[in-house]
Amino acid sequence: MKKTALAHANIALVKYWGKRDAALNLPAVGSISMTLEALSTHTSVDFRDDLPGDMLILNGRPAAVKQEQRVGAFLDLFRREAGITAAAEVVSENNFPTGAGLASSASGFAALALAAGAAAGLPLSPTRLSELARRGSGSAARSIYGGFVEMKAGERSDGTDAVAVQLQNAAYWPLAMLILITSEQEKELGSTEGMNRTAQTSPYYPAWIASSVSDLVAMREAIAGKDFQRLGEIAEFSCFKMHGLALSADPAILYWNDLSVTLIHEVRRLRRQGYGAYVTMDAGPQVKVICLPEDAPKLQQQLGQIEGIQRILPTAIGGDARLIND
Ligand code: DP6
Repeated sequence: MKKTALAHANIALVKYWGKRDAALNLPAVGSISMTLEALSTHTSVDFRDDLPGDMLILNGRPAAVKQEQRVGAFLDLFRREAGITAAAEVVSENNFPTGAGLASSASGFAALALAAGAAAGLPLSPTRLSELARRGSGSAARSIYGGFVEMKAGERSDGTDAVAVQLQNAAYWPLAMLILITSEQEKELGSTEGMNRTAQTSPYYPAWIASSVSDLVAMREAIAGKDFQRLGEIAEFSCFKMHGLALSADPAILYWNDLSVTLIHEVRRLRRQGYGAYVTMDAGPQVKVICLPEDAPKLQQQLGQIEGIQRILPTAIGGDARLIND
């Protein structure tokens, strides 16, 4: 039966970078994210006996073979669990640019996990869905939930404890984010390759792993106390530490473009003027600004004047992934 799900993207406030097991996609560090209302993936899955193989339509077009294979391998997890062999037709639509460091794999695999589980007739708890979504992409485990979400690195070798938990729902603290699009081009080096190279070659990698624990503790406290300044400071610390780490890989990984750097300076300048605005960035050149909802329009107006910005996506904090009636 065909089932459709919607999941929101998320942006990590404390970053995941590095794996303790590549086969099961187990993260080497925990992470904490904020789910984003305005960025979502809408995916339907239909297991059908009449299909010669899995088919993936992504944003209205047949997907590349590599993407189709990644989705096929992911669907095998559900087929195995449900005891079915049928191929699936998967139709997936993002409402934001794909592959440009905007977490399309997070919302993509979360929506796919939810739709595939339902289409295969599996009764899956959110924890189990998070565990399965992680197999598609580490950050996808967090997109099962709305609000503020922590992904546990876990310790078990089977990965059953490498799952996300919701720290607070979206209504708890309505923060906002401005996503400043500096380039719509596909990124050159995906996060998976980037983090693997970092783990293999950076002399700073052990320090990154060791120091992540205190970032998680501090971020949990900032969220529990609704301390915006603290949240912003820790988010910037984790982000710049991750990008510094990536730069220390061999060959160096640099996700920023000129405009990214200009915008980082601009956000710092606005902060000196009294605005509450903090930067975070992922495996791409887009700059995300964490702010309070009441400051978002003014910040958008100020940042929108910077030459070269393609567009700004303002977003509130988003809710849980959910099934949608077809
Ligand atoms: C920089 O979840 O895309 O966005 O597990 O290999 O698919 P894989 O990686 P992915 O990596 C996300 C990296 C990040 C930080 C984060 O979201 O925590």
